[in-house]
Amino acid sequence: MRVALISAEAVPYSKTGGLGDVAGALPKALTRIGIDAVLITPLYLQTKRGYLETAVIDDLDIDWRGGRYKAKAFYSRANGSPTFLIDAPEFFYRDSIYGYTEDYERFAFFCRAALTLVRLLGTPPEILHLNDWHCGFAAAELFERRRYDPFWAKTRSVFSVHNMAYQGGFDLGELWKLDFASERARNAFALNGYASAMKAGLEVSDMLSTVSRRYAIEIQTPEYGYGLDWLTRLRADRLIGITNGIDYEVWNPETDPELPANYSLADLSGKSTCKQFLLEKFGLPVDLNLPLIGSISRLTAQKGIDLIMQAAQEILETGACLISLGSGEKRYEEFWQSLRDYAPQQVAIYRGYSEPLAHLIEAGSDIFIMPSKFEPCGLNQMYSLRYGTIPVVRAVGGLDDTVEQWDAVNQKGNGFKFTPFEASAFVEKIYEALFVYADTESLAAIRKNGMAADNSWENAATKYLDLYRKAASL
Ligand code: ADP
Ligand code: GLC
Repeated sequence: MRVALISAEAVPYSKTGGLGDVAGALPKALTRIGIDAVLITPLYLQTKRGYLETAVIDDLDIDWRGGRYKAKAFYSRANGSPTFLIDAPEFFYRDSIYGYTEDYERFAFFCRAALTLVRLLGTPPEILHLNDWHCGFAAAELFERRRYDPFWAKTRSVFSVHNMAYQGGFDLGELWKLDFASERARNAFALNGYASAMKAGLEVSDMLSTVSRRYAIEIQTPEYGYGLDWLTRLRADRLIGITNGIDYEVWNPETDPELPANYSLADLSGKSTCKQFLLEKFGLPVDLNLPLIGSISRLTAQKGIDLIMQAAQEILETGACLISLGSGEKRYEEFWQSLRDYAPQQVAIYRGYSEPLAHLIEAGSDIFIMPSKFEPCGLNQMYSLRYGTIPVVRAVGGLDDTVEQWDAVNQKGNGFKFTPFEASAFVEKIYEALFVYADTESLAAIRKNGMAADNSWENAATKYLDLYRKAASL
């Protein structure tokens, strides 16, 4: 089975969120189970050049906007599987990875370059595994080319939705400039008078997937479908949910180089060292008995920051400390700053992005909060489980798939989850988690259950293999 996985971001080359984690780890897991997987991703200004081997392709000659565009491609195996990075400074050397009005054009170009590269490599892949709206253009292009180009005749597409809220919308009038002039292509993109790359991916790909079982059901409803639920319902027979794994080579408290002390289920003493280190680092009182609640998040409405805002006072009244790592919308950044100013003995914040700090917070916290409004999968709750940190989550998407409500009688479960998007329901679960935290036996049991959970990629990779087989047989 030969698979070309295409993604706008992939760890360790680039990352703004979970897509990067997934696109970096999945091809590695696929390689391990014997799939001939190649990853194709852009080379950004932010990509560490140390990862790159020589430019293997100097003159990637891309058909672009009626002319030719010359790009390069670099090779690397830094993520554990063969990777090609498309080097086109005009499109990818920017201050940030996303956030430009012409993003649709940048990723349309990326898709064109990726397909050109695959063709140059010589052997057609059985599967193009495309991720999120950025790759909707590749889905549409394959759909078109398959009709007249024998190279692509047997290639099937799998389109994975990581977040339905971002759809890559742009003006329909731009389509012809991107070489999607046919009626068929236009119809694939057209949505309520504009063009949507996500819609094209969902409409023309051979198989569809999303990143948790629960989210596969949710995106078929108006509440979570962001205007495309009719299409996911229409194609429900082609859609499956595969819950993401996590990379235990990167997220493992026994070996994590970012921690001041490592620890395991058998010996948790290193976790206290991490907590102490974290409290000292942030100037919080070093009282190891006080519960420490962590949050690592893009500060957007998706992540339920509104519930944290509403619950903050009650959380502080419990005496627990709060630590937040994240950046994003101004109103949420201001909220965390004002909470910190209000209770500097209980609240610590780091506004920005820091990979080492993310590891330290997962390890040093006792409880991790993720009250998301919606969550296609979510990775931090799984990191928390692995690090012996109790997740308190809203029962949506992957959070519902991976967190099992604590059952005190049978000492089963690994965290806490609530359903209504209401601060009172959230606070109630925080109280329950604090209650367990205060009871040594229950704490040991809930941690054990969490740390022993198998959220490995190996598990998910075999499900992807089944999906690829299904697509290849179409
Ligand atoms: P999403 O992709 O929606 O942001 P996920 O939970 O799938 O949510 O993945 C988020 C990833 O980004 C995790 O690996 C998390 O640790 C990381 N992350 C989010 N914010 C930060 C930050 N401020 N600093 C470091 N890592 C972060
Ligand atoms: C998106 C989702 C997140 C998911 C990630 C990786 O960023 O918001 O829930 O874990 O993709 O699939």
